[in-house]
Amino acid sequence: SVLEMEVEQINKGKYEHYMQKEIHEQPESLTTTMRGRLIRGGSCKSKSVLLGGIKDHLKTIRRSRRIVFIGCGTSYNAALAARPILEELSGIPVSVEIASDLLDRQGPIYREDTAIFVSQSGETADTLQALEYALENGALCVGITNTVGSAIARHTHCGVHINAGCEIGVASTKAYTSQIVVMAMLALAIGDDTLSSQARREAIIDGLFDLPSKVKDVLKLDQEMKNLAQLLIAEQSLLVFGRGYNYATALEGALKVKEVALMHSEGILAGEMKHGPLALVDETLPIVVVATRDACFSKQQSVIQQLHARKGRLIVMCTKGDASSVCVGGSCRVIEVPQVEDCLQPVINIVPLQLLAYHLTVLRGYNVDQPRNLAKSVTTQ
Ligand code: G6P
Repeated sequence: SVLEMEVEQINKGKYEHYMQKEIHEQPESLTTTMRGRLIRGGSCKSKSVLLGGIKDHLKTIRRSRRIVFIGCGTSYNAALAARPILEELSGIPVSVEIASDLLDRQGPIYREDTAIFVSQSGETADTLQALEYALENGALCVGITNTVGSAIARHTHCGVHINAGCEIGVASTKAYTSQIVVMAMLALAIGDDTLSSQARREAIIDGLFDLPSKVKDVLKLDQEMKNLAQLLIAEQSLLVFGRGYNYATALEGALKVKEVALMHSEGILAGEMKHGPLALVDETLPIVVVATRDACFSKQQSVIQQLHARKGRLIVMCTKGDASSVCVGGSCRVIEVPQVEDCLQPVINIVPLQLLAYHLTVLRGYNVDQPRNLAKSVTTQ
């Protein structure tokens, strides 16, 4: 109806699509996610994290033998992005499961496990069924959702709301970055009793405070990503290489491109390059390599050199000022992004890829907010 169309236009404000609006509101959604949860200053401890929904369960989580993240789609990718910092700050083995795969295998879940269910909607059928399974097996079940009162929020023992605000575009964008931030805060809360990592935790908390302004910076790449989309408009396929903290960036970037732009895209763990993907490389297939500064940087530099030696069509994402050190003698395209604390870098790095997927979709003439065959919330199996 005309009324519905008008309401929609009001909701979208100055934006043409919900996905575009949701990408651009990430500085605000991240701020809301962190609101009231980061504490800077105070008496004995100077910086800390307060997650009201789980504070009474932190002791149990710290004593657990394993932390298992369970989710689908983008929520799974967010858990993968957070795994390294969770392992580092908790010292507990962390595994990440796709809900349907855990169910297919009937994989072991124990009373000594903490099972964390990640879901934007809180209603995904597979994730919900995996929750029932974990409850039956006696695990402590924690929910990380964006929907107060959702099935997953209600059936878990405790949890954290991501507070990203309503997400309407089928492709998840702002929920992804808020999920990563919530899981980083969870890692900080679990590690809070460890003195040896206090400096690291404080650096991450400082990084969280700065994150919205850094996201604002990276959003300035909008026009550059539109130009890149123009260049890639007629491609059949796009590969995305990442590793370490940014393996998830590769998977999630590729997921955005395939789900909305309807272009084949694959996220590849750079460490596996020689075990197959290298055979695909030629002068025509475009490849995005995520090579921002962190402990894996020199390994990524050598990946770039090897792709270059095979005449790969490279688009390198690097830290501001690093263009010359990632593009030696090559004619590659560079996406320069602001640097943040290494474990938070996936929040920054996904933004240009969200913008790329968005512009590719519009330029190719597809439906951005409701890609064919897909649903926002998959409530049947
Ligand atoms: C669907 C949506 C995705 C989402 C996935 C998991 O596939 O299209 O955007 O990532 O479900 O949804 P959830 O609500 O559990 O995060």
